[in-house]
Amino acid sequence: MNDNDRVVIFDTTLRDGEQSPGCSMSVAQKLRLARTLAGLGVDVIEAGFAAASPRDFDAVQEVARQVEGATICSLARCNNHDIPLAARALSSAKKRRLHVFIATSPIHRRHKLNMSRAEVLQRAVAGVRLAREFCKDVEFSAEDAIRTEPEFLAEVMSAVIEAGATTINVPDTVGYTTPDEMHRIISTLREQVSGIEQVVISTHCHNDLGMAVANSLAAVAAGARQVECTINGIGERAGNCALEEVVMGLKTRSDLFGVSTAIDTRKLYPASRQLAAIIGSFVPANKAIVGDNAFAHEAGIHQHGMLANRETYEIMRPEDVGISRSTLVLGKHSGRHALADRVRELGFELAETELEQLFVRFKDLADRKRQVFDADIEALIAGGQGDRAGPWQLVGLQTTSSMGQGQLPSAAVALRGPDGQSVTEAATGDGPVDAVLKAMARATGTEFELISMRVRSVSEGEDAQGEAALTARIDGTQYSGRGVDTDIVAACAKAFIEILNRASRNPRADVTRSSPDPVAHEAPRVATAHP
Ligand code: KIV
Ligand code: ZN
Repeated sequence: MNDNDRVVIFDTTLRDGEQSPGCSMSVAQKLRLARTLAGLGVDVIEAGFAAASPRDFDAVQEVARQVEGATICSLARCNNHDIPLAARALSSAKKRRLHVFIATSPIHRRHKLNMSRAEVLQRAVAGVRLAREFCKDVEFSAEDAIRTEPEFLAEVMSAVIEAGATTINVPDTVGYTTPDEMHRIISTLREQVSGIEQVVISTHCHNDLGMAVANSLAAVAAGARQVECTINGIGERAGNCALEEVVMGLKTRSDLFGVSTAIDTRKLYPASRQLAAIIGSFVPANKAIVGDNAFAHEAGIHQHGMLANRETYEIMRPEDVGISRSTLVLGKHSGRHALADRVRELGFELAETELEQLFVRFKDLADRKRQVFDADIEALIAGGQGDRAGPWQLVGLQTTSSMGQGQLPSAAVALRGPDGQSVTEAATGDGPVDAVLKAMARATGTEFELISMRVRSVSEGEDAQGEAALTARIDGTQYSGRGVDTDIVAACAKAFIEILNRASRNPRADVTRSSPDPVAHEAPRVATAHP
């Protein structure tokens, strides 16, 4: 393989992924995930959109300061406000990239930017030139490239290369393209754009028609050498190209693509679970590569084939993506070393203090549960990734259920608040979970609308832990939370406290509503809307 056979993996979980409803992360959580991404072997980490809000700025700055190994990148619009700010946020990164963008399609030019082709072209060039004053690694994205007139797209790309862009990105912003069309667009650009052989061609696909991964692979087949993607495919609407899928697609079908990435694929599964824990969501069981059923074979005929030779039905080995096949079970007599070994075998890298905290939670669980399975350990680790930054803490909880007439399910909760004071509240509801959420909302003075609630069993047996994932809207913003407990009502309460904490810490909702757009003409998008 030579340089041209290497595909750069550009991860935008912390920017495009984080922008989607229910996926917001605190700065500490972004930092934790950024370390995981660097350990996974991601080449570029897009840590945020520094000008979007003070919190985005802080997140980019902290990742730039503390995460080594990968190039750290910030998104910026092509203007004099965003670019210097992004450069400042990135200033302490060992390797940094400025990623500037402007929409080029007729529909965006007319309705969002109110700009002519000439104005867009001029802004793109000026943006890249300004970015080059701060950084030698500059990526330019033509937002909605796929719906841009081909000759105009080629003109813009030639001009930004001339202005100093080192990567040119071709986003399918609305998830509209197909593999054939993507192949044609990249091939045409390679023929028509002057200087294109000196830069990296990149692709950034959304999944509205379910083709983000296929379109990204088609772009690679046509000569793109950077793929922008997110863990678990999180992102606006139907999401972005899923990192684990595109990476395993390139690896498993290297006979077709003839390229490689620097990803350590054995870390894909732990990274996926870590993200799910951080944003408080489940990975669907049938999700390719990292879902619970991705390597499960139920049908008798499949099982028969698998026993004869795994390759009859298995194109990848679970261990290649970090799924462990151990049947080892831990229990209350297992010590620190056994736990630490298991954690390592499961592919997680925990610091000494994290291991110590995990051991305490493990002992507590092992007292309540005879056998502790791998899934329990993963859930305990995930619990440690959750949102414990406060300001609210759940101290105690009591519920009653009822059936028949006359009595309503009820709950009493005790919380510790931002000032350290205990608050107790009670409520009745349709069921014990409803009553708990209402009592917690009352205690914190919050109005909420529950959007979704899912509960599942983490492992087997009647003493299995329950995992709850809740999504709720508070003050117009959607938040997710996740909780695990052997009692499912308590799991829901833990998930809801994460939501309440995220909402009470979120300055973004206010910033988004009050911050004026620094740039005349551009969309009044500051923080939450997609570029
Ligand atoms: O989808 C998109 O067009 C983007 C760009 C800013 C790269 O996210
Ligand atoms: Zn995008």
